[in-house]
Amino acid sequence: MISIDKIKEEIAGAVSKNAEDLEAFRIRFISRKSVIGELFSKMKDVPAEERKKFGQQINEVKNLAQEKFKGLVSSLEKEETKIEAAPFDLTLPSAKGALGSRHPITITRNRIIEIFEKIGFNVSDGPEIEDDWHNFTALNFPPNHPAREMQDTFFIEKNPDIALRTHTSSVQIRVMENQQPPIRTLCPGRVFRNEAISARAHCIFHQVEGFYVNENVSFVDLKQTLFHFAKEMFGKDTKVRYRPSYFPFTEPSAEIDISCNICKGDGCNVCKYTGWVEIAGSGMIDPNVLENVGIDSEKYTGFAFGMGIERIAMLKWEINDLRLFTENDIRFLDQFKSF
Ligand code: DAH
Repeated sequence: MISIDKIKEEIAGAVSKNAEDLEAFRIRFISRKSVIGELFSKMKDVPAEERKKFGQQINEVKNLAQEKFKGLVSSLEKEETKIEAAPFDLTLPSAKGALGSRHPITITRNRIIEIFEKIGFNVSDGPEIEDDWHNFTALNFPPNHPAREMQDTFFIEKNPDIALRTHTSSVQIRVMENQQPPIRTLCPGRVFRNEAISARAHCIFHQVEGFYVNENVSFVDLKQTLFHFAKEMFGKDTKVRYRPSYFPFTEPSAEIDISCNICKGDGCNVCKYTGWVEIAGSGMIDPNVLENVGIDSEKYTGFAFGMGIERIAMLKWEINDLRLFTENDIRFLDQFKSF
């Protein structure tokens, strides 16, 4: 008969790599026909005075076998889950996803909005397909007035009253028709002109219109607002100047130049060696325009400005060809993460 010590030794050294090993252990040490079971059946042959001690020893080895069996079962289970989980190691870093970037026009528009929002402007929207009233007549372009020719317009053939808006100034009219002063808003959007596409011109581009109507709004407010914008956008050393100009919807009107941010005023081909680049048209809203939308021009005054978003982006990033914005070349677009 196998000795208790030998059984203990065997149990201690048992390993189970798979279900068969486990089953072999179970048969040898746990089942009724196990070596331990055999010992129990030998009890009756043990002299009475030793029987108690013998019984204790077998019980001890029986417990030992059961503990070991539990251990073997659980380590085999762990081993199995490890094998199953192996192809999906959740601790590995994930594969790098290619993240897109915003279009430079979007980045520029958002930055413009951000600057003006901080000084109290909100954002308004208007349609890209416009009627003559909102795009021209209400803005003080009389019918057949030559100023209409300043902007080559895409008309709808069947209805010459409808056109693609040539500027975002049309949104001024839409907003003022629906709101009473004080109004301080920005109108960003796409505009359309019948122009041949080149490095400097496109038939589709973007503008931001801004205007403020209230009691006692003066040209000083316009100057200070755009002065603030130029410095926020192009840096605090930027200089701003106003040149007298003409727009039907403003009186007086001015074009706004900033010191060339590329050569810092020394002269380069972007500023055509003048040291200055134009960024916007502006002026005091013509009283006729206020009257056209039912705002009392004796009580209220306002300023307005309009700038090309492409132009701001081109100056900011030294981009020399307008066509790049619409070609969708990923090598170009990928370069603009933010300002
Ligand atoms: N609408 C003009 C254009 O497209 C730009 C402009 C000039 C807008 C003067 C204004 C302004 O609001 O006051 O050329």
